[in-house]
Amino acid sequence: MKIYVPADSAALALGANDIADAITQQARARGLTVELVRNGTRGMIWLEPLVEVEVDGVRHGFGPATPDDADAILDGTSAKALGPVDKLDWMQRQTRLTFARCGVIDPLSLEDYQAHGGLAGLRRAIAMSSADIVDEVTKSGLRGRGGAGFPTGIKWNTVRQAQAAQKYIICNADEGDSGTFADRMIMEGDPFTLIEGMIIAGLGVDATRGYVYLRSEYPDAIAVMTRAVEIARAAGVLGADVLGSGRAFDLEIRKGAGAYVCGEETSLLNSLEGKRGVVRAKPPLPALEGFLGQPTVVNNVISLATVPVIFEKGAQFYADFGLGRSRGTVTLQIAGNVARGGLFETAFGMSLGAVVNDIAGGTASGRPVKAVQVGGPLGAYMPVSKFDTALGYEEFDAAGGLIGHAGLVVFDDSADMLCMARFAMEFCAVESCGKCTPCRIGAVRGVETIDRIAAGDSAAIPLLTDLCETMKDGSLCALGGFTPFPVMSALTHFPDDFARVKEAAE
Ligand SMILES: Cc1cc2nc3c(=O)[nH]c(=O)nc-3n(C[C@H](O)[C@H](O)[C@H](O)COP(=O)(O)O)c2cc1C
Ligand code: SF4
Repeated sequence: MKIYVPADSAALALGANDIADAITQQARARGLTVELVRNGTRGMIWLEPLVEVEVDGVRHGFGPATPDDADAILDGTSAKALGPVDKLDWMQRQTRLTFARCGVIDPLSLEDYQAHGGLAGLRRAIAMSSADIVDEVTKSGLRGRGGAGFPTGIKWNTVRQAQAAQKYIICNADEGDSGTFADRMIMEGDPFTLIEGMIIAGLGVDATRGYVYLRSEYPDAIAVMTRAVEIARAAGVLGADVLGSGRAFDLEIRKGAGAYVCGEETSLLNSLEGKRGVVRAKPPLPALEGFLGQPTVVNNVISLATVPVIFEKGAQFYADFGLGRSRGTVTLQIAGNVARGGLFETAFGMSLGAVVNDIAGGTASGRPVKAVQVGGPLGAYMPVSKFDTALGYEEFDAAGGLIGHAGLVVFDDSADMLCMARFAMEFCAVESCGKCTPCRIGAVRGVETIDRIAAGDSAAIPLLTDLCETMKDGSLCALGGFTPFPVMSALTHFPDDFARVKEAAE
Protein backbone atom coordinates (compact mmCIF):
# COMPACT_ATOMS: atom_id res chain seq x y z
CA MET A 1 0.00 0.00 0.00
CA LYS A 2 1.41 3.38 -0.99
CA ILE A 3 0.31 6.47 0.93
CA TYR A 4 1.36 10.06 0.33
CA VAL A 5 1.42 12.63 3.14
CA PRO A 6 2.84 16.03 2.11
CA ALA A 7 5.87 17.41 3.92
CA ASP A 8 5.41 20.85 2.36
CA SER A 9 5.53 23.71 4.93
CA ALA A 10 1.82 24.49 4.51
CA ALA A 11 0.86 20.86 5.20
CA LEU A 12 3.35 20.65 8.07
CA ALA A 13 1.88 23.79 9.62
CA LEU A 14 -1.51 22.07 9.51
CA GLY A 15 -0.26 18.95 11.28
CA ALA A 16 0.89 16.65 8.45
CA ASN A 17 3.60 15.03 10.59
CA ASP A 18 1.05 13.94 13.20
CA ILE A 19 -1.04 12.35 10.47
CA ALA A 20 1.98 10.58 9.01
CA ASP A 21 2.75 9.21 12.50
CA ALA A 22 -0.86 8.12 13.07
CA ILE A 23 -0.98 6.31 9.72
CA THR A 24 2.32 4.54 10.43
CA GLN A 25 1.11 3.43 13.87
CA GLN A 26 -2.28 2.26 12.62
CA ALA A 27 -0.70 0.37 9.75
CA ARG A 28 1.75 -1.30 12.14
CA ALA A 29 -1.09 -2.29 14.49
CA ARG A 30 -2.89 -3.93 11.59
CA GLY A 31 0.22 -5.62 10.24
CA LEU A 32 -0.12 -3.66 6.99
CA THR A 33 2.95 -2.88 4.94
CA VAL A 34 2.68 0.75 3.98
CA GLU A 35 5.11 2.70 1.84
CA LEU A 36 4.78 6.25 3.13
CA VAL A 37 5.93 8.94 0.68
CA ARG A 38 6.39 12.50 1.91
CA ASN A 39 5.47 14.43 -1.22
CA GLY A 40 5.10 18.15 -1.88
CA THR A 41 1.70 19.79 -1.98
CA ARG A 42 -0.77 19.65 -4.86
CA GLY A 43 -1.50 23.29 -4.07
CA MET A 44 -5.04 22.85 -2.71
CA ILE A 45 -4.26 24.42 0.63
CA TRP A 46 -7.85 24.34 1.92
CA LEU A 47 -7.65 20.53 1.70
CA GLU A 48 -4.31 20.22 3.47
CA PRO A 49 -3.15 18.01 4.99
CA LEU A 50 -4.21 16.06 1.89
CA VAL A 51 -3.48 12.37 2.28
CA GLU A 52 -3.41 10.29 -0.90
CA VAL A 53 -3.82 6.53 -1.06
CA GLU A 54 -2.72 4.84 -4.26
CA VAL A 55 -5.06 2.09 -5.44
CA ASP A 56 -4.37 0.37 -8.77
CA GLY A 57 -2.19 3.30 -9.83
CA VAL A 58 -4.90 5.88 -9.03
CA ARG A 59 -4.33 8.29 -6.15
CA HIS A 60 -7.38 8.89 -3.97
CA GLY A 61 -7.44 11.96 -1.77
CA PHE A 62 -8.59 12.45 1.83
CA GLY A 63 -8.58 15.87 3.38
CA PRO A 64 -8.24 17.99 5.29
CA ALA A 65 -7.05 15.03 7.36
CA THR A 66 -6.42 14.79 11.09
CA PRO A 67 -4.69 11.99 13.03
CA ASP A 68 -8.15 10.72 14.03
CA ASP A 69 -8.87 10.03 10.37
CA ALA A 70 -6.00 7.54 10.00
CA ASP A 71 -8.15 4.50 10.79
CA ALA A 72 -10.90 5.32 8.32
CA ILE A 73 -8.38 6.30 5.62
CA LEU A 74 -6.76 2.87 5.89
CA ASP A 75 -10.22 1.23 5.84
CA GLY A 76 -11.28 3.30 2.84
CA THR A 77 -14.35 4.44 4.80
CA SER A 78 -13.32 8.02 5.55
CA ALA A 79 -15.99 10.70 5.19
CA LYS A 80 -13.19 12.94 3.96
CA ALA A 81 -12.72 10.93 0.79
CA LEU A 82 -12.40 13.22 -2.22
CA GLY A 83 -12.03 10.66 -4.99
CA PRO A 84 -9.16 10.56 -7.49
CA VAL A 85 -7.05 13.70 -6.91
CA ASP A 86 -6.29 14.22 -10.60
CA LYS A 87 -10.03 14.37 -11.28
CA LEU A 88 -10.74 17.16 -8.79
CA ASP A 89 -12.01 20.32 -10.47
CA TRP A 90 -9.05 22.40 -9.20
CA MET A 91 -6.59 19.98 -10.83
CA GLN A 92 -8.59 19.43 -14.01
CA ARG A 93 -8.86 23.14 -14.78
CA GLN A 94 -5.14 23.78 -14.61
CA THR A 95 -2.39 23.65 -17.19
CA ARG A 96 0.42 22.31 -15.06
CA LEU A 97 3.73 22.76 -16.84
CA THR A 98 6.09 24.22 -14.22
CA PHE A 99 4.23 22.44 -11.40
CA ALA A 100 3.53 19.20 -13.30
CA ARG A 101 5.48 17.09 -10.81
CA CYS A 102 4.83 19.09 -7.64
CA GLY A 103 2.83 16.99 -5.18
CA VAL A 104 3.10 14.01 -7.49
CA ILE A 105 6.65 12.83 -6.91
CA ASP A 106 8.89 12.19 -3.93
CA PRO A 107 10.79 15.52 -4.01
CA LEU A 108 14.11 13.94 -3.09
CA SER A 109 13.99 10.94 -5.39
CA LEU A 110 16.04 11.56 -8.50
CA GLU A 111 14.59 8.30 -9.90
CA ASP A 112 11.03 9.53 -9.42
CA TYR A 113 12.02 12.86 -10.95
CA GLN A 114 13.39 11.18 -14.07
CA ALA A 115 10.42 8.81 -14.29
CA HIS A 116 8.26 11.94 -14.64
CA GLY A 117 10.26 13.66 -17.39
CA GLY A 118 13.02 15.11 -15.21
CA LEU A 119 16.47 15.67 -16.82
CA ALA A 120 15.05 15.16 -20.34
CA GLY A 121 15.37 18.90 -20.96
CA LEU A 122 18.95 18.97 -19.67
CA ARG A 123 19.94 16.02 -21.84
CA ARG A 124 18.56 17.88 -24.85
CA ALA A 125 20.32 21.13 -23.87
CA ILE A 126 23.66 19.34 -23.48
CA ALA A 127 23.56 18.47 -27.17
CA MET A 128 22.91 22.11 -28.15
CA SER A 129 25.28 25.07 -28.56
CA SER A 130 25.03 27.87 -26.03
CA ALA A 131 23.57 30.16 -28.72
CA ASP A 132 20.87 27.58 -29.52
CA ILE A 133 20.03 27.16 -25.85
CA VAL A 134 19.48 30.89 -25.45
CA ASP A 135 17.56 30.96 -28.72
CA GLU A 136 15.23 28.23 -27.44
CA VAL A 137 14.44 30.25 -24.32
CA THR A 138 13.87 33.37 -26.43
CA LYS A 139 11.49 31.47 -28.73
CA SER A 140 9.51 30.13 -25.77
CA GLY A 141 8.58 33.71 -24.90
CA LEU A 142 9.44 33.10 -21.23
CA ARG A 143 9.46 36.30 -19.19
CA GLY A 144 10.83 36.72 -15.69
CA ARG A 145 8.36 35.60 -13.05
CA GLY A 146 10.04 37.56 -10.23
CA GLY A 147 8.10 40.72 -10.92
CA ALA A 148 9.23 42.74 -13.88
CA GLY A 149 8.35 40.25 -16.65
CA PHE A 150 11.62 40.91 -18.47
CA PRO A 151 12.25 38.49 -21.39
CA THR A 152 14.52 35.75 -20.06
CA GLY A 153 16.12 35.05 -23.46
CA ILE A 154 17.30 38.66 -23.81
CA LYS A 155 18.85 38.60 -20.34
CA TRP A 156 20.62 35.31 -21.01
CA ASN A 157 21.89 36.55 -24.35
CA THR A 158 23.48 39.61 -22.73
CA VAL A 159 25.33 37.36 -20.29
CA ARG A 160 26.23 34.86 -23.01
CA GLN A 161 27.84 37.55 -25.15
CA ALA A 162 29.75 39.13 -22.25
CA GLN A 163 33.42 38.17 -22.14
CA ALA A 164 34.61 37.01 -18.72
CA ALA A 165 36.58 34.18 -17.14
CA GLN A 166 33.77 33.50 -14.65
CA LYS A 167 30.04 34.00 -15.01
CA TYR A 168 27.28 33.18 -12.51
CA ILE A 169 23.69 31.97 -12.36
CA ILE A 170 21.87 33.36 -9.36
CA CYS A 171 18.45 32.14 -8.41
CA ASN A 172 16.39 34.72 -6.60
CA ALA A 173 14.52 32.68 -4.02
CA ASP A 174 13.91 35.53 -1.58
CA GLU A 175 10.15 35.46 -2.26
CA GLY A 176 9.29 38.48 -0.14
CA ASP A 177 5.97 39.43 -1.74
CA SER A 178 2.98 39.16 0.56
CA GLY A 179 0.66 36.32 -0.40
CA THR A 180 3.21 34.49 -2.54
CA PHE A 181 4.47 30.96 -2.07
CA ALA A 182 5.11 29.47 -5.52
CA ASP A 183 8.90 29.57 -5.12
CA ARG A 184 8.71 27.81 -1.78
CA MET A 185 6.27 25.21 -3.06
CA ILE A 186 8.34 24.22 -6.06
CA MET A 187 11.56 24.10 -4.01
CA GLU A 188 9.89 21.86 -1.44
CA GLY A 189 7.90 19.79 -3.93
CA ASP A 190 10.17 19.49 -6.97
CA PRO A 191 13.66 20.85 -6.14
CA PHE A 192 15.44 19.10 -9.00
CA THR A 193 13.51 21.11 -11.56
CA LEU A 194 15.10 24.30 -10.23
CA ILE A 195 18.54 22.68 -10.20
CA GLU A 196 18.02 21.45 -13.76
CA GLY A 197 16.87 24.91 -14.90
CA MET A 198 19.95 26.51 -13.36
CA ILE A 199 22.26 24.02 -15.08
CA ILE A 200 20.62 24.70 -18.45
CA ALA A 201 21.06 28.44 -17.80
CA GLY A 202 24.72 27.77 -17.01
CA LEU A 203 25.20 25.88 -20.26
CA GLY A 204 23.42 28.66 -22.16
CA VAL A 205 25.59 31.51 -20.92
CA ASP A 206 28.79 29.55 -20.13
CA ALA A 207 28.52 29.97 -16.39
CA THR A 208 29.93 27.23 -14.19
CA ARG A 209 28.76 28.41 -10.78
CA GLY A 210 25.38 29.14 -9.30
CA TYR A 211 23.82 30.30 -6.05
CA VAL A 212 20.30 30.03 -4.74
CA TYR A 213 19.63 33.03 -2.50
CA LEU A 214 16.93 31.51 -0.35
CA ARG A 215 14.67 33.35 2.05
CA SER A 216 15.79 32.76 5.64
CA GLU A 217 12.15 32.32 6.72
CA TYR A 218 11.94 29.12 4.63
CA PRO A 219 13.80 26.53 6.76
CA ASP A 220 12.00 23.59 5.14
CA ALA A 221 12.80 24.77 1.62
CA ILE A 222 16.43 25.36 2.65
CA ALA A 223 16.64 21.79 4.00
CA VAL A 224 15.06 20.22 0.89
CA MET A 225 17.16 22.26 -1.54
CA THR A 226 20.37 21.55 0.37
CA ARG A 227 19.68 17.82 0.29
CA ALA A 228 18.66 17.92 -3.38
CA VAL A 229 21.94 19.62 -4.30
CA GLU A 230 23.86 16.89 -2.44
CA ILE A 231 21.90 14.17 -4.24
CA ALA A 232 22.36 15.84 -7.64
CA ARG A 233 26.09 16.21 -6.99
CA ALA A 234 26.47 12.59 -5.92
CA ALA A 235 24.65 11.46 -9.07
CA GLY A 236 26.87 13.53 -11.36
CA VAL A 237 24.07 15.89 -12.34
CA LEU A 238 25.99 18.73 -10.72
CA GLY A 239 29.77 18.96 -10.64
CA ALA A 240 32.78 18.97 -12.91
CA ASP A 241 31.20 16.75 -15.56
CA VAL A 242 27.42 17.35 -15.78
CA LEU A 243 25.84 14.04 -16.89
CA GLY A 244 29.13 13.08 -18.55
CA SER A 245 28.97 16.09 -20.88
CA GLY A 246 32.43 17.37 -20.05
CA ARG A 247 30.74 20.63 -18.95
CA ALA A 248 30.94 21.86 -15.36
CA PHE A 249 28.23 23.42 -13.21
CA ASP A 250 27.82 23.46 -9.47
CA LEU A 251 25.75 25.48 -7.07
CA GLU A 252 25.37 26.47 -3.44
CA ILE A 253 22.41 27.41 -1.27
CA ARG A 254 22.78 30.74 0.54
CA LYS A 255 20.42 31.90 3.27
CA GLY A 256 18.85 35.34 2.68
CA ALA A 257 19.36 38.28 5.01
CA GLY A 258 15.70 38.64 5.98
CA ALA A 259 14.92 41.96 4.29
CA TYR A 260 12.30 42.53 1.59
CA VAL A 261 14.68 44.72 -0.38
CA CYS A 262 17.22 41.88 -0.57
CA GLY A 263 14.90 40.39 -3.20
CA GLU A 264 15.77 43.33 -5.48
CA GLU A 265 18.48 41.90 -7.67
CA THR A 266 21.29 44.38 -7.02
CA SER A 267 20.60 44.46 -3.30
CA LEU A 268 20.61 40.65 -3.41
CA LEU A 269 24.03 40.70 -5.07
CA ASN A 270 25.40 42.96 -2.33
CA SER A 271 23.95 40.68 0.32
CA LEU A 272 25.40 37.60 -1.40
CA GLU A 273 28.80 39.30 -1.40
CA GLY A 274 28.51 39.75 2.36
CA LYS A 275 27.65 43.43 2.19
CA ARG A 276 24.60 45.33 3.44
CA GLY A 277 21.56 44.77 1.24
CA VAL A 278 21.50 48.21 -0.39
CA VAL A 279 20.30 48.75 -3.95
CA ARG A 280 22.98 49.47 -6.57
CA ALA A 281 22.41 52.09 -9.24
CA LYS A 282 21.94 50.65 -12.74
CA PRO A 283 23.83 50.67 -15.11
CA PRO A 284 25.90 48.60 -14.94
CA LEU A 285 23.38 45.81 -15.38
CA PRO A 286 23.97 42.65 -13.32
CA ALA A 287 24.06 40.83 -16.66
CA LEU A 288 27.36 42.62 -17.34
CA GLU A 289 28.66 43.42 -13.84
CA GLY A 290 26.84 41.33 -11.31
CA PHE A 291 28.10 38.99 -8.60
CA LEU A 292 31.69 39.96 -7.72
CA GLY A 293 31.62 42.27 -10.72
CA GLN A 294 31.19 39.39 -13.20
CA PRO A 295 28.42 38.79 -15.78
CA THR A 296 25.50 37.28 -13.90
CA VAL A 297 22.06 35.91 -14.68
CA VAL A 298 19.65 36.73 -11.86
CA ASN A 299 16.37 34.92 -12.32
CA ASN A 300 13.42 34.09 -10.14
CA VAL A 301 12.79 30.50 -9.00
CA ILE A 302 9.75 30.04 -11.24
CA SER A 303 11.55 31.44 -14.30
CA LEU A 304 14.37 28.92 -13.83
CA ALA A 305 12.12 26.04 -12.78
CA THR A 306 10.14 26.51 -16.01
CA VAL A 307 13.22 26.09 -18.22
CA PRO A 308 13.31 22.25 -18.02
CA VAL A 309 9.78 21.82 -19.41
CA ILE A 310 10.61 24.24 -22.24
CA PHE A 311 13.57 22.05 -23.20
CA GLU A 312 11.71 18.81 -22.62
CA LYS A 313 8.69 19.72 -24.75
CA GLY A 314 10.17 22.40 -27.02
CA ALA A 315 9.92 26.19 -27.11
CA GLN A 316 6.92 26.17 -29.44
CA PHE A 317 4.94 23.88 -27.13
CA TYR A 318 5.39 26.41 -24.32
CA ALA A 319 4.81 29.46 -26.51
CA ASP A 320 1.52 28.01 -27.75
CA PHE A 321 -0.03 28.76 -24.36
CA GLY A 322 -0.83 32.29 -23.30
CA LEU A 323 -2.10 35.66 -24.37
CA GLY A 324 -0.41 38.38 -26.42
CA ARG A 325 3.18 38.84 -25.25
CA SER A 326 2.55 36.81 -22.09
CA ARG A 327 3.43 33.30 -23.21
CA GLY A 328 3.11 30.05 -21.33
CA THR A 329 1.55 29.70 -17.91
CA VAL A 330 1.23 31.87 -14.85
CA THR A 331 1.53 30.25 -11.44
CA LEU A 332 -1.17 32.04 -9.47
CA GLN A 333 -0.93 32.09 -5.72
CA ILE A 334 -4.39 32.68 -4.34
CA ALA A 335 -4.55 33.92 -0.76
CA GLY A 336 -6.32 36.22 1.67
CA ASN A 337 -10.05 36.05 2.26
CA VAL A 338 -10.93 33.24 -0.17
CA ALA A 339 -12.94 30.05 0.10
CA ARG A 340 -10.25 28.08 -1.77
CA GLY A 341 -6.66 29.27 -1.60
CA GLY A 342 -3.58 27.74 -3.12
CA LEU A 343 -1.45 27.36 -6.20
CA PHE A 344 -3.26 27.42 -9.54
CA GLU A 345 -1.22 27.22 -12.76
CA THR A 346 -3.01 28.31 -15.90
CA ALA A 347 -2.19 29.73 -19.31
CA PHE A 348 -2.10 33.54 -19.30
CA GLY A 349 -5.45 34.93 -20.42
CA MET A 350 -7.96 33.99 -17.72
CA SER A 351 -9.78 37.00 -16.27
CA LEU A 352 -9.11 38.19 -12.73
CA GLY A 353 -12.80 37.80 -11.91
CA ALA A 354 -12.84 34.17 -13.06
CA VAL A 355 -9.90 33.42 -10.77
CA VAL A 356 -11.42 35.11 -7.74
CA ASN A 357 -15.06 34.06 -8.11
CA ASP A 358 -14.84 30.81 -9.96
CA ILE A 359 -11.53 29.21 -9.03
CA ALA A 360 -11.15 30.63 -5.51
CA GLY A 361 -14.90 30.46 -4.85
CA GLY A 362 -15.19 34.05 -3.62
CA THR A 363 -14.49 35.06 -0.05
CA ALA A 364 -14.17 32.73 2.92
CA SER A 365 -16.29 35.14 4.94
CA GLY A 366 -19.13 34.90 2.41
CA ARG A 367 -19.19 38.71 2.15
CA PRO A 368 -18.77 40.50 -1.21
CA VAL A 369 -15.26 40.95 -2.57
CA LYS A 370 -14.05 44.52 -2.26
CA ALA A 371 -10.55 44.42 -3.74
CA VAL A 372 -7.75 42.12 -4.78
CA GLN A 373 -4.13 43.09 -4.40
CA VAL A 374 -2.30 41.45 -7.27
CA GLY A 375 1.50 41.37 -7.48
CA GLY A 376 2.60 41.67 -3.86
CA PRO A 377 2.96 44.75 -1.68
CA LEU A 378 3.82 46.93 -4.67
CA GLY A 379 0.77 45.86 -6.69
CA ALA A 380 -2.43 47.85 -7.10
CA TYR A 381 -5.67 47.05 -5.29
CA MET A 382 -7.93 45.97 -8.15
CA PRO A 383 -11.63 46.76 -7.58
CA VAL A 384 -14.41 44.46 -8.78
CA SER A 385 -15.00 46.84 -11.72
CA LYS A 386 -11.64 45.66 -13.12
CA PHE A 387 -12.46 41.97 -12.84
CA ASP A 388 -12.66 41.54 -16.59
CA THR A 389 -8.91 42.31 -16.86
CA ALA A 390 -7.17 39.33 -18.45
CA LEU A 391 -4.08 37.91 -16.77
CA GLY A 392 -1.31 39.22 -18.98
CA TYR A 393 1.54 41.65 -18.34
CA GLU A 394 0.35 44.26 -20.85
CA GLU A 395 -3.33 43.80 -19.98
CA PHE A 396 -2.66 44.41 -16.28
CA ASP A 397 -0.42 47.35 -17.05
CA ALA A 398 -3.19 48.95 -19.13
CA ALA A 399 -5.59 48.49 -16.19
CA GLY A 400 -3.17 50.20 -13.78
CA GLY A 401 -2.19 46.88 -12.23
CA LEU A 402 0.79 44.62 -11.91
CA ILE A 403 1.08 40.85 -12.31
CA GLY A 404 4.41 40.77 -10.45
CA HIS A 405 5.06 37.35 -8.93
CA ALA A 406 1.36 36.53 -9.46
CA GLY A 407 0.22 36.60 -5.86
CA LEU A 408 -3.45 37.48 -5.29
CA VAL A 409 -4.65 38.64 -1.88
CA VAL A 410 -8.42 38.99 -1.68
CA PHE A 411 -10.29 41.36 0.67
CA ASP A 412 -14.01 41.47 1.45
CA ASP A 413 -16.13 44.58 1.90
CA SER A 414 -15.12 44.96 5.54
CA ALA A 415 -11.61 46.02 4.48
CA ASP A 416 -10.80 49.67 5.09
CA MET A 417 -8.78 50.77 2.06
CA LEU A 418 -7.33 53.80 3.84
CA CYS A 419 -5.80 51.38 6.32
CA MET A 420 -4.50 49.29 3.43
CA ALA A 421 -2.95 52.38 1.81
CA ARG A 422 -1.32 53.25 5.11
CA PHE A 423 -0.03 49.70 5.41
CA ALA A 424 1.57 49.96 1.94
CA MET A 425 3.34 53.20 2.86
CA GLU A 426 4.44 51.88 6.23
CA PHE A 427 5.78 48.72 4.59
CA CYS A 428 7.87 50.88 2.27
CA ALA A 429 9.12 53.00 5.17
CA VAL A 430 10.11 49.91 7.17
CA GLU A 431 11.69 48.02 4.27
CA SER A 432 13.39 50.95 2.47
CA CYS A 433 17.12 50.41 2.01
CA GLY A 434 17.60 54.13 2.53
CA LYS A 435 19.67 54.82 -0.55
CA CYS A 436 17.37 57.38 -2.18
CA THR A 437 15.42 60.26 -0.64
CA PRO A 438 11.98 59.87 -2.32
CA CYS A 439 11.64 56.43 -0.75
CA ARG A 440 13.53 56.86 2.52
CA ILE A 441 11.87 60.14 3.50
CA GLY A 442 8.84 60.00 1.21
CA ALA A 443 7.41 56.83 2.71
CA VAL A 444 7.64 58.23 6.25
CA ARG A 445 5.93 61.44 5.15
CA GLY A 446 3.39 59.28 3.31
CA VAL A 447 2.37 57.51 6.52
CA GLU A 448 2.05 60.86 8.30
CA THR A 449 -0.04 62.27 5.47
CA ILE A 450 -2.41 59.29 5.47
CA ASP A 451 -2.74 59.67 9.22
CA ARG A 452 -3.81 63.29 8.65
CA ILE A 453 -6.43 62.12 6.15
CA ALA A 454 -7.60 59.49 8.61
CA ALA A 455 -8.05 62.25 11.18
CA GLY A 456 -10.38 64.07 8.78
CA ASP A 457 -7.92 66.47 7.11
CA SER A 458 -9.10 66.12 3.52
CA ALA A 459 -6.75 68.94 2.44
CA ALA A 460 -3.93 66.40 2.82
CA ILE A 461 -5.28 64.26 -0.07
CA PRO A 462 -3.64 66.36 -2.86
CA LEU A 463 -0.42 66.26 -0.84
CA LEU A 464 -0.55 62.46 -0.83
CA THR A 465 -1.12 62.42 -4.59
CA ASP A 466 1.81 64.79 -5.10
CA LEU A 467 4.07 62.73 -2.85
CA CYS A 468 3.15 59.55 -4.76
CA GLU A 469 4.11 61.23 -8.05
CA THR A 470 7.49 62.17 -6.59
CA MET A 471 8.11 58.67 -5.28
CA LYS A 472 7.07 57.14 -8.60
CA ASP A 473 9.33 59.39 -10.68
CA GLY A 474 12.27 59.83 -8.34
CA SER A 475 12.92 56.49 -6.64
CA LEU A 476 15.91 54.40 -7.58
CA CYS A 477 14.14 51.05 -7.46
CA ALA A 478 10.63 49.66 -7.56
CA LEU A 479 10.19 49.61 -3.78
CA GLY A 480 9.84 53.38 -3.63
CA GLY A 481 8.75 53.61 -7.26
CA PHE A 482 5.81 51.21 -7.05
CA THR A 483 4.50 51.80 -3.52
CA PRO A 484 2.33 54.59 -5.03
CA PHE A 485 0.38 51.91 -6.94
CA PRO A 486 -1.33 50.32 -3.93
CA VAL A 487 -1.70 53.72 -2.28
CA MET A 488 -3.14 55.52 -5.29
CA SER A 489 -5.33 52.60 -6.37
CA ALA A 490 -6.88 52.57 -2.90
CA LEU A 491 -7.48 56.31 -3.08
CA THR A 492 -8.80 56.28 -6.65
CA HIS A 493 -11.10 53.27 -6.45
CA PHE A 494 -12.29 53.64 -2.87
CA PRO A 495 -12.54 57.41 -2.24
CA ASP A 496 -15.29 56.90 0.36
CA ASP A 497 -12.78 55.21 2.66
CA PHE A 498 -10.67 58.38 2.58
CA ALA A 499 -13.57 60.71 3.35
CA ARG A 500 -13.15 60.73 7.11
CA VAL A 501 -15.01 63.08 9.37
CA LYS A 502 -12.92 65.29 11.63
CA GLU A 503 -13.63 64.45 15.23
CA ALA A 504 -14.93 67.44 17.16
CA ALA A 505 -12.38 68.94 19.53
CA GLU A 506 -13.31 68.29 23.12
C1 LIG B 1 11.92 45.65 -3.62
C2 LIG B 1 12.02 44.52 -4.58
C3 LIG B 1 11.91 43.21 -4.12
C4 LIG B 1 12.02 42.14 -5.01
N1 LIG B 1 11.89 40.89 -4.52
C5 LIG B 1 12.03 39.83 -5.38
C6 LIG B 1 11.94 38.51 -4.88
O1 LIG B 1 11.71 38.27 -3.70
N2 LIG B 1 12.08 37.49 -5.77
C7 LIG B 1 12.32 37.72 -7.11
O2 LIG B 1 12.48 36.78 -7.87
N3 LIG B 1 12.40 38.97 -7.59
C8 LIG B 1 12.28 40.02 -6.76
N4 LIG B 1 12.40 41.29 -7.26
C9 LIG B 1 12.71 41.46 -8.70
C10 LIG B 1 14.22 41.33 -8.92
O3 LIG B 1 14.82 42.60 -8.74
C11 LIG B 1 14.55 40.84 -10.33
O4 LIG B 1 13.83 41.61 -11.25
C12 LIG B 1 14.23 39.37 -10.55
O5 LIG B 1 14.84 38.55 -9.60
C13 LIG B 1 14.73 38.95 -11.93
O6 LIG B 1 14.34 37.63 -12.20
P1 LIG B 1 13.26 37.30 -13.33
O7 LIG B 1 13.70 38.03 -14.58
O8 LIG B 1 13.33 35.83 -13.48
O9 LIG B 1 11.95 37.79 -12.84
C14 LIG B 1 12.26 42.38 -6.39
C15 LIG B 1 12.36 43.70 -6.85
C16 LIG B 1 12.23 44.76 -5.96
C17 LIG B 1 12.33 46.14 -6.48
S1 SF4 C 1 13.53 53.14 -3.74
FE1 SF4 C 1 13.83 52.67 -1.56
S2 SF4 C 1 14.58 50.59 -1.53
FE2 SF4 C 1 14.85 51.37 -3.63
S3 SF4 C 1 16.91 52.27 -3.69
FE3 SF4 C 1 15.55 53.91 -3.09
S4 SF4 C 1 15.61 53.85 -0.83
FE4 SF4 C 1 16.40 51.91 -1.53
